[in-house]
Amino acid sequence: MSHSLAVLPGDGVGPEVVAAALTVLDAAEEKFGFSTERVEVPLGADHYLATGELLTEEAVGSLRGHDAILFGAIGSPKVTPGILERGIILALRAAMTQAINLRPVRLYPGVPTPIAGLTPERCDLVIVRENTEGAYVARGSTVHAGTPAQVAVQESVNTWYAIERAVDFAFRLASARRKKLTLCHKTNVLVEAGKLWLAVMDEVGARYPDVEQDYVHVDAMCMHLPVSPDRFDVVVTDNLFGDIVTDLGAVLQGGLGVAASGNLNIDGTSPSMFEPIHGSAPDIAGRGWANPAGACLSMAMMLGHLGEGEAAAAVESATTSVLADLPALAGEGMGASTAELGERIAERLRDGSAPQVTGSLMNDLAAVMNGLRHG
Ligand code: NAI
Ligand code: MG
Repeated sequence: MSHSLAVLPGDGVGPEVVAAALTVLDAAEEKFGFSTERVEVPLGADHYLATGELLTEEAVGSLRGHDAILFGAIGSPKVTPGILERGIILALRAAMTQAINLRPVRLYPGVPTPIAGLTPERCDLVIVRENTEGAYVARGSTVHAGTPAQVAVQESVNTWYAIERAVDFAFRLASARRKKLTLCHKTNVLVEAGKLWLAVMDEVGARYPDVEQDYVHVDAMCMHLPVSPDRFDVVVTDNLFGDIVTDLGAVLQGGLGVAASGNLNIDGTSPSMFEPIHGSAPDIAGRGWANPAGACLSMAMMLGHLGEGEAAAAVESATTSVLADLPALAGEGMGASTAELGERIAERLRDGSAPQVTGSLMNDLAAVMNGLRHG
């Protein structure tokens, strides 16, 4: 089996962590007998400064032909904040109909967490964030601008179509896991959007009678997540709430160097995109101080999405076992460079010495994607 990949290393530590992830991918291909064709696409600050180009029609056209996109990070102190993020990342998510942002929140054995007393057994959940609507569709207006009477109206767009797409995916994922789905919203205040989300949960939930349903307000979620993450299996939420609670989730699992994400196209019309949640980290770029684990785990998620569940789970196991040995999660204190860590993870994958991660999300994702592909 061969998969065609577009690789977007981006800026700063992006190319460093992506190179490490590709070293690990090489080892996974050897071991599990599949291959990838990789095309590198030069999007990011340097490309923008040299050419003035963000995401062009032509780039979208060529990216669309691939099976998946592996993304590093973009952003540079030389470019005004927002230009690249909106012009490239958000534009890509929209152009590729990446309907879902998937963020696993899993504390792996041996990885330090700032939450006292939290154990890996109690922290293994997945947040499914609707990725196309809500407050992020740039609807709204300003009147009386520049006067003391200035009024800003910011709207949130919620369609049955997009909510159903996210909720159905979340139910499928919960079915493959511990069979519990929690809706996170603020239905007591955002009553119109809330009514729609609840109605979709009811209707779609009827198709998944073996999945237990739960509901939590977003403010209460911020309390439950650090204190009792074991209450959750799969959480589905809207774009804005998802943006916020997933950052809190990343803290539980050891922070920016560790957390992974996927922007999933689930109708098969365009490729999905996988990226560590961190940015280009210009403060440490060029020093080999970036932790490649988030990029490697994102790559594992990509393999799960492509149906290579076994390879995906093995990459997850190798990455997290190397992570558990590190004296620190970032910087000089890691005791090895980004590239050396890539080699170490690849080695552990080859020799199969990492303890196998149980109940891998990467396997669950492969099962869900295979189910979607085959009806
Ligand atoms: P950042 O995530 O790049 O860095 C925040 C802090 O975390 C820094 O101290 C950095 O050294 C550290 N850090 C980040 N990744 C790390 C890793 N893999 N290992 C160890 N430490 C790591 O966020 P910041 O500084 O706010 O933004 C820097 C640039 O990245 C900006 O231009 C921003 O717009 C962009 N950005 C891009 C994103 C993307 O491409 N998806 C996401 C977030 C920010
Ligand atoms: Mg965010």
